[in-house]
Amino acid sequence: MIKKTIAVLPGDGVGPEVIEEAIKILKNIAKVFGHEFMFEYGLIGACAIEKNGNPLPDETLVSCKKSDAVLFGAIGHPKYDLDPKAIIRPEQGLLQLRKKLGLYANLRPLKIFPELVNSSPLKREKVFCVDLIVVRELTGGIYFGTPQKRINKGNTAIDTCIYSRKEIIRIAKVAFELAIKRRKKVTSVDKANVLETSRLWRETVSDVSNQYPTIELHHMFVDNAAMQLIKNPSQFDVILTENMFGDILTDESSVLAGSIGLLPSASIGEKNALYEPIHGSYHKNAGKNIANPIATILSAAMMLRFSFKMEIEARTIGNAVQQVIKRGFRTADIADQNTQKEKILGTKEMGERITGLIKPL
Ligand code: IPM
Ligand code: MG
Repeated sequence: MIKKTIAVLPGDGVGPEVIEEAIKILKNIAKVFGHEFMFEYGLIGACAIEKNGNPLPDETLVSCKKSDAVLFGAIGHPKYDLDPKAIIRPEQGLLQLRKKLGLYANLRPLKIFPELVNSSPLKREKVFCVDLIVVRELTGGIYFGTPQKRINKGNTAIDTCIYSRKEIIRIAKVAFELAIKRRKKVTSVDKANVLETSRLWRETVSDVSNQYPTIELHHMFVDNAAMQLIKNPSQFDVILTENMFGDILTDESSVLAGSIGLLPSASIGEKNALYEPIHGSYHKNAGKNIANPIATILSAAMMLRFSFKMEIEARTIGNAVQQVIKRGFRTADIADQNTQKEKILGTKEMGERITGLIKPL
């Protein structure tokens, strides 16, 4: 029996609903495989600001630090999106947590469920063999560079993009190591024709690649990468990129899979790791039992695989999700005109269907 403590941060919007389904599945995994998972709930984001004015309360940080892994829902609230002057913002909770836990490597895999190719706005033949992973640097770049401020009586704003060679080497190694186990191709995305940080990025990634002679390295400008992801997405294996380009390209690439509600992610550091769906808080539909819990459920599977080394258990979750989709069950975001009405499920019902299929392989 393996014992693990998981810090659970449901966050805002649909976060609590999708997290609830992932927890159901983890509890079932524990039961079927004889493990013990302890769940420690914490506040983060808008709900934490409401409660005590701080998007990342100390007790949340402490609980994450001492846990074996963190499972995260979603963050953000329209109240703050509509108020650019707000000084305290929900997203700061997640950004500080990433920084304080040193979660520098964000892995965002994209695999296509063959049954869902028609949910993608792209032609079937373009998307059905896509299998890529984006390795996004997560604790540097323009997200964290200082100064970040207003000057000139508030009429001019500054953000700072900053990267050190050390930060680039560390994330590049993650990408090359992953490529060894995959199709041995890394596409490094930058804007080296314009930005100095990108020129350092390109130079450093090329240097690191010398240690990986079996891996094919390509450099691509981010504007071209945005186009290539739509034009010819199956050319990509591992995409390596900096923080903001990775944020934008992963939302774009989610369209290939049919819905952002399907895509999980892992954010990994030296000591800690956090798992979260790549989608946001989706407030419009919070509390309505509509959101797709699959991204969070697959994030929980990534947690079992990467943090707990429970490969069979992780695969059991992946298979259960596949089975449910194969049997024609859909949440609203992935239903189409061919979906039978009675097979369109709510968040809870989708979670229950998947849980019901958690059996030893
Ligand atoms: C993501 C999100 C976050 C980011 C926000 C919520 C701060 O968009 O994880 O992709 O920009 O990194
Ligand atoms: Mg994003």
